[in-house]
This record gives sequence, C-alpha cells and structure tokens, in this order.
Amino acid sequence: MINNRNTILFIASSLDGYIATKDDSLEWLFKVDGEGDNGYSEFYDTVDTIVMGRRTYDWIIEKEMDQFPYKNKKCFVFSKSLKGSNEYVEFIDEDIRAFVEKQKQLDGGKIWIVGGGDLLLDFLKEQLIDEFIITIAPTLIGSGIPLFKEFDTEIELELIGLRRFNQFVELHYIVK
Ligand SMILES: NC(=O)c1ccc[n+]([C@@H]2O[C@H](COP(=O)([O-])OP(=O)(O)OC[C@H]3O[C@@H](n4cnc5c(N)ncnc54)[C@H](OP(=O)(O)O)[C@@H]3O)[C@@H](O)[C@H]2O)c1
Repeated sequence: MINNRNTILFIASSLDGYIATKDDSLEWLFKVDGEGDNGYSEFYDTVDTIVMGRRTYDWIIEKEMDQFPYKNKKCFVFSKSLKGSNEYVEFIDEDIRAFVEKQKQLDGGKIWIVGGGDLLLDFLKEQLIDEFIITIAPTLIGSGIPLFKEFDTEIELELIGLRRFNQFVELHYIVK
C-alpha cells in the first residue's frame, strides 16, 4: 500500500546487481547518460527521514563532506562502532523493527533506506521495506557490493511504475 510514511529503498544498481565496486567506487554509475536528475528531486521531496549504514555514511563523508547532501532531513546512521550524533546525523544501534515502528508513529514523509547492502539485508530479513525504487545502470561490473545479499524469505512485489531516464531504467515496486 502506498503510504506517505512508508519505508522505501531508493537505490541505483548495475545491471548485474551491484551497488558499488569492491573498493566502493561509483564511477561506473556517474558516467551513465541519464536525463535531468533521474527522478531524484521528485523522490527526495517525498522523504522526511533518512536511514543508512555506517559504511555508506563514511562514503558520503569522504566524497561530499563540504556539502552534506541531506541537511534538511532527519538522518540516522546505523552503527555499532559510532555513537552519539553530530550536526547532520544521529548514530543508532537499535532493534530495526522497533526503530521503524517508532518512526512510523511520527508524522512526516517517507523513510528512505539509502543502503548499503549490509543494512538493507537486515531490513529485508525483517520484511521492513514497503516500497522499492531501483534505478538500473546499463553496466555490468562483474563483482562488487551486492544490492541483495542472500536471505531466506520470499518477498512478493507488485510493479507499480516503470520509467526510462535515457540510459537508466527506474523500477518502482510495492510489497504485495
Ligand atoms: N548505488 C547506490 O545507490 C548506493 C547506495 C548506498 C550505498 N552504496 C554503496 O554501498 C557501499 C556500502 O555498503 P555496505 O553494504 O558495504 O555497508 P552499509 O550497509 O552502508 O554499512 C554497513 C555498516 O552499517 C552498520 N550496520 C548494518 N546493519 C546494522 C544493524 N542492524 N545495527 C547496527 N549497525 C548496523 C555496521 O556499522 P559498524 O561497523 O559501525 O557497526 C556495518 O558495518 C558504499 O560503497 C556505498 O557507496 C551505493
């Protein structure tokens, strides 16, 4: 069901299912010819809360510290090694189900699960993703950090949207 407090995975993947190379490079993604911002700002306007794993946070800090990209949203970083908070994010190590239930009781927009694959796996195991928007790059990178790691549950989805941004294809699913 579409709900404005849904958890939503919005992520880009290579055609062979990787979100980054083994050494965390996204060069293969940035060089693809898209169209406009490939639907990003339209999606971003629906989001109120942002959730990511510590390795994704490290990547953002390394690449974009001068311009932290999510300044105007509530931003949580799951980590067992980092504690507390800073100007931009709060580090948390909570049971993810309890976290999501608590967030959904608050008013606001969608809860964007940024990734990466490690944190996403925990959300999938607990069936805590309501919607998926996956943007596929027309590139096979052969190896890297998988979008979907191995898990035991079957999650049936319904395709509710399909868009092309030049060389990118965006797939939008909700959980049945
Ligand atoms: N293509 C895309 O759109 C996209 C999107 C997002 C990320 N990425 C890429 O993905 C890579 C990072 O992904 P990743 O899978 O290696 O790592 P990740 O999921 O971003 O982060 C893993 C870390 O998150 C923390 N964590 C995960 N689950 C947790 C839980 N249940 N409770 C508490 N802490 C938890 C742990 O941090 P501690 O070790 O601190 O305990 C863990 O080491 C980067 O290269 C990034 O650029 C790409």
